[in-house]
Amino acid sequence: MTHAITYLDAIASSAEREVRSPDDYLPMQAVTHEIAFQSNGWGADRRQKIQELFDGLAPEWHTRGGEERLKPTVDALERGPLPTGGIAIEIGSGTGLQTPPLLEKFDFVVSVDLAAEMLALSPRRDRLELARADAAELPLSAGRADAIVCVNAFLFPMEYGRVLAPDGRIIFVSTSGDQTPIYMPPEDVVACLEAALGPIDATSSAYGWGTWTVVMRRTEW
Ligand SMILES: C[S@@+](CC[C@H](N)C(=O)[O-])C[C@H]1O[C@@H](n2cnc3c(N)ncnc32)[C@H](O)[C@@H]1O
Repeated sequence: MTHAITYLDAIASSAEREVRSPDDYLPMQAVTHEIAFQSNGWGADRRQKIQELFDGLAPEWHTRGGEERLKPTVDALERGPLPTGGIAIEIGSGTGLQTPPLLEKFDFVVSVDLAAEMLALSPRRDRLELARADAAELPLSAGRADAIVCVNAFLFPMEYGRVLAPDGRIIFVSTSGDQTPIYMPPEDVVACLEAALGPIDATSSAYGWGTWTVVMRRTEW
C-alpha cells in the first residue's frame, strides 16, 4: 500500500437521519464499485440506464436540497484542506444543489452531468459553465482541473487522473454517508484512485451523516 489516509474527527450534527431501506442504496453502491474498479464497469447500456434514471428523477430532485445536505461538502472544502481558487469540475452536478459552495471556493466551476433534464433545471450563474457530458470522457484537456468534485457522483479514476492538474485534488462526498446510493468507503476511494494517479495522500472525515474523502497525488521531496 502506498497511500496514507488521515482520518479527522467527525463533526456531529443534530439533524435526524433519514430512514432508508438497504434496498434503496445497496444496488447502486454495487454499481458505484464496479464503475470505479472494473474496466468494463461502464458501457453504453449502463450509461443509457443511468441517464434515463436521472432524467426521470430530475423533476423531484429539488426535494433533496437544503442547508444540512451542503454541510459535508462545505466541511470537505474547508478541512480537506483545499487551496482556494482555480478551476473545479463538478461531476454529476444534477440540478446544481451542491454548486453554491464550489463557487465560493473556486474561481470557475464546470458542472458536468449526463442527464439533460437535470441540467435544464440547474440555475445559470456567473463563473459557472454547465456541460452535458459523460464523466468517463470529459470534454477537457489533460491537467486542466485544479479540483474534481463528486458529490453523490461516480468515480471514473482513469479519466479523472487524465484531467487533474499535478497538484489537484479529488473530492468525494456522500451526503448520507454509508446509506448514500453512490457511496464508497474512504479506503476504496483511495484504492481505485491510486491505480490511476499513483501514490496518493488522502484526508477523510464526516459531517453529520455525510462522509467525505479528499485525495491528492503524493509529492516526493
Ligand atoms: C445522485 S445524483 C447527484 C446530483 C448532485 N450532485 C447532488 O448531490 O444533488 C448523480 C448525478 O450524476 C449524474 N451522472 C451519472 N453518471 C454520470 C456520468 N457518467 N457523467 C456525468 N454525470 C453522471 C446523474 O445524471 C445525476 O444527476
